[in-house]
Amino acid sequence: MEVVPLPSVEDVAVLAADTVEALVRTRPAAVLGLATGSTPLPTYRELIRRHRAGTAPAYDDVRCFTLDEYVGLPAGHPESYRSTIARELTDDLGIAEDRVQGPDPSPEGLATAGERYEDALREAGGVDLQVLGIGSDGHLAFNEPGSSLGSSTRIKTLTERTRRDNARFFGGPEEVPRHVLTQGLGTILRARHLLLLATGAGKAEALAAAVEGPLTAQCPASVLQLHPHVSVLADEAAAAGL
Ligand code: GLP
Repeated sequence: MEVVPLPSVEDVAVLAADTVEALVRTRPAAVLGLATGSTPLPTYRELIRRHRAGTAPAYDDVRCFTLDEYVGLPAGHPESYRSTIARELTDDLGIAEDRVQGPDPSPEGLATAGERYEDALREAGGVDLQVLGIGSDGHLAFNEPGSSLGSSTRIKTLTERTRRDNARFFGGPEEVPRHVLTQGLGTILRARHLLLLATGAGKAEALAAAVEGPLTAQCPASVLQLHPHVSVLADEAAAAGL
């Protein structure tokens, strides 16, 4: 695992954007795994800035897969992760809608949604670069503490802590859905390169546990220790516990 402490959030965004662009330059049909949440937003804004400035590689042939999705929101809800990623990144990079996919939370297919998503990932040839954030309790995607380390895409129930953490995107904690579809830890480990971004003091404890603590389902992000190609970009505050 390569851990890169950086002075600021902006430095994390620049280096993360460099990593994405380097891949797309060498592999125009790259498969990108995209995270939602607040942490990757400066990186996404940096990618969009470069695209608008005309210095970015072409994204026309790229395919994108999101990590997870809420279950129970009305289709097209602005806080669904599929809507969020379109609004925050892929629309502005000119990536066609049908080249961006997330787990399908529609009620009729829910029982097979995980399996279908795993099939889609496999058919795309797997994820080349997976952008990740980390939850304050060490979760990855929506794999909460206690998630099995080899898990595949499936339905999970959110903890109260994560619902509280994500309440800022909704009217309040009660409006945050209780259930989600999430790539499993095993799914995430199948990506060829993992790029974990961590910023802010609120992530210091979880990041230290993930990188330097024991491998345990109680800190799902500790599973990264098993992967041969992980880059961790952390600002000073998030790196404080390392
Ligand atoms: C959310 C998402 C994760 C994200 C994490 C951290 O619950 N499902 O993919 O990495 O929590 O979010 P943030 O970056 O907003 O702190």
